[in-house]
Amino acid sequence: MLKLGVLISGRGSNLQSLIEACAQPGFPAEIAVVLSNRPDAVGLRRAAEVGLPHFVVDHKAFTSREAFERVLDARLRAHGVELVCNAGFMRILTEWFVRAWWNQSINIHPSLLPAFPGLHVHEQVLASGARVSGCTVHYVRTEMDAGPILGQAVVPVLPADTPDALAARVLKAEHRLYPNVVKLIAGGHVAIEGERITLTGPSDGDAQLFSPGL
Ligand code: GRF
Repeated sequence: MLKLGVLISGRGSNLQSLIEACAQPGFPAEIAVVLSNRPDAVGLRRAAEVGLPHFVVDHKAFTSREAFERVLDARLRAHGVELVCNAGFMRILTEWFVRAWWNQSINIHPSLLPAFPGLHVHEQVLASGARVSGCTVHYVRTEMDAGPILGQAVVPVLPADTPDALAARVLKAEHRLYPNVVKLIAGGHVAIEGERITLTGPSDGDAQLFSPGL
């Protein structure tokens, strides 16, 4: 069982999808600890409900980013974490933390990276006129929303979309993608050499999305 440490700042719906996946018989990972930088994160309640160890590490209590991260790191290590899953964790990580968890820290972002990194993603996608959007799970690097891509899911952008409607469609895809990538890593299906990832095992065949549909 691969031990996961999930980092959150808010709602925690991706945490929820990981909780549910880990509860499935045969899923090769388990959540060892949930950490939030915000005391009011709704996701903390989700962790409490299912009896997972969960802690607040409030970044405001620290004088430097690295001092904050040293405590995060210590908590993760104390719980034997092998893979850090950033799930709506809204803190920029320093090079020190990124190096400490190199190829052991992943993030989910609600766009098809490398397009639309950063914030206000869905507004940007709609303004661009793109016909498809989606989500990406990638290894964490020092640059925000960048790093070797482990998995992506595509959804259509529809003519009547608002940022909220598109966000909801992407989020549904996130909830399927994130556990699946964790499963691939835990199952030993991900090889990384330099910055190149090779996936072995399950293949998604030749699925295609046309938007507008054919
Ligand atoms: C998700 O859209 C994720 O891609 C982004 O932040 C959001 C977190 O949502 N990084 P939740 O807290 O998991 O519900």
